[in-house]
Amino acid sequence: MVHYYKHEYSNVHRAAHTLAARSTDAYEGARAKVQRFLGAGSADEIVFVRGTTEAVNLVANAWGRRNVGAGDEIILTTLEHHSNIVPWQFLAEAVGAVLRIVPVTDRGEVLLDDYGKLLTARTRMVAITHVSNALGTILPVGEMIQAAHRHGAAVLVDGAQAVSHFPVNVQALDADFYVLSGHRLFAPSGVGVLYGKKALLDEMPPWQGGGNMIQRVTFEKSTFADPPARFEAGTATLGPAVGLGAAIDYLDRIGMENVARHERDLLAHGTAELSRIRGLRLIGTAPEEGGCAVVRGRRAERRGDGQVPRPGGHRGARGSSLRAADHGSLRRRRHGAAVAGAVQHARGDRRVGARRPQGAASIRRTEQARRPVYPASLRIGSWAADGRTSHRPRYCPAAMKATKVRIGGDKVTSDTSAGPGQ
Ligand SMILES: Cc1ncc(COP(=O)(O)O)c(C=O)c1O
Repeated sequence: MVHYYKHEYSNVHRAAHTLAARSTDAYEGARAKVQRFLGAGSADEIVFVRGTTEAVNLVANAWGRRNVGAGDEIILTTLEHHSNIVPWQFLAEAVGAVLRIVPVTDRGEVLLDDYGKLLTARTRMVAITHVSNALGTILPVGEMIQAAHRHGAAVLVDGAQAVSHFPVNVQALDADFYVLSGHRLFAPSGVGVLYGKKALLDEMPPWQGGGNMIQRVTFEKSTFADPPARFEAGTATLGPAVGLGAAIDYLDRIGMENVARHERDLLAHGTAELSRIRGLRLIGTAPEEGGCAVVRGRRAERRGDGQVPRPGGHRGARGSSLRAADHGSLRRRRHGAAVAGAVQHARGDRRVGARRPQGAASIRRTEQARRPVYPASLRIGSWAADGRTSHRPRYCPAAMKATKVRIGGDKVTSDTSAGPGQ
């Protein structure tokens, strides 16, 4: 990126000077790298957007308003990130469609039988996460896509938490749309990707108007460029897109198979070590999981400073992080009670279940206990921001120190210095 900003930075596509040509090459080169990384058939199927959120909104607007009508159904799972819920709610409200939600088990697995029953001729869209941002569950998206296609429904896969953990091939999955955020892939924030099958993108109208996305403009009528430019109105997020290309180069050098293997080892090791801590319960133990463990425990509740506890006495090595977080999908899974103690203790409310935080039943009915309770979770992830990977995953005290649960009114938010993989 430094090289790009020093030697190539200019607007793309539209000017006829050296920097513009270099900048266009860098930007379109990044698109080609994303295409290879995702196994897409053509670079024209790769649309640069601001992130996963914008990609889902783009599809919900441009594809959804043309293909979803009154009484039609959109299927989501309980595990979805807000960005894969709210845009579909907007669409459903606008056109009179209905959202159907697939439940998950206590282990965090999608109930495939229930999913099968929800699929009908009314289903237009199935929008599912590839990996849960809260529990790390890897959804059987290939199987779910096939089932949706048998009913004529399109499928959008939210790959924000998948692409940095294992290889993804959108053609092998047969995903209609696949979306991701650059900052989940060691790239800068402000850039993301919408992959869409060419035939679908070709039929979609633009969702934002402006420069770059047009073919011809008159005051009477405008015509639009072919995808992907049709969906990239205005000056693109150039530097971050080039940075995304560099991040993909970095991952290519490591090899996504190696990343996946390392994370499996890390998860097995972290799970085994955490299981030794008395009073700690692992939440979300689906057999197919990314490098993520969610735990609850009394030790977190006993500390008055809101800091996460140091499990098992590991210290010192780089490459791992512990994070306190508040996850919507956990709230929706009603795990709030299970981890409520940690949050309540961080609030400094010692009256509320501080000693016996076994669940909602043990929380005494104080004024604070009647307020909504949000779960705090500790997640273990690994990254190699310094370009190194650690074979023996340990906890990083610096990251843990900086990890606090912060209370703002009734809302509990997490504050962390953790790097990629947040
Ligand atoms: C699974 C998942 N989907 C969507 C998003 C939203 O991504 P962004 O905020 O980059 O649009 C995130 C971000 O954390 C995520 O983890």
